Amino acid sequence: MENVTFMMIKPDAVENGFIGNIIEKITSAGFKFKALKLTHLSKKNAEEFYKVHKDQSFYDDLVKFISRSPIVVAVLEKENAVSDFRTLIGSTNPDDAAEGTIRRLYGKSKGENAIHGSDSEENAQLETSFHFSGFDIY
Ligand code: CMP
Repeated sequence: MENVTFMMIKPDAVENGFIGNIIEKITSAGFKFKALKLTHLSKKNAEEFYKVHKDQSFYDDLVKFISRSPIVVAVLEKENAVSDFRTLIGSTNPDDAAEGTIRRLYGKSKGENAIHGSDSEENAQLETSFHFSGFDIY
């Protein structure tokens, strides 16, 4: 469903106390929260969540980072949610992200970049199912 996306506030942003600021940016941009929770991924679940990247050189660091402390995961609704949310968060590398985007404001590096947003409707659905069992908006 193109009006729904999945997002995750990553450990660096949670550790630095940015949950409130980031949620404010998201609601101000017109997204509605359909599901929301604070959680902490085990190493095993982190490996599973990021399995599409398992052949990448940064995979081990990515798994270690995402499982090191709590994260916030949510399902968001808005017209064109997937692409509008990617615009709101900005480029993967915060140094390349546009002014005012969440990664530009709160990200530190390509790895520790504050937030994740699904890159397709299909992945939004897969990532939502991973974190919210029984979620039935689709
Ligand atoms: P995200 O798109 O949320 O999910 C995959 C993550 O891999 C991506 O964010 C980055 O944080 C991370 N990533 C991508 N490229 C690199 C890289 N070259 N070095 C470290 N991490 C990376």
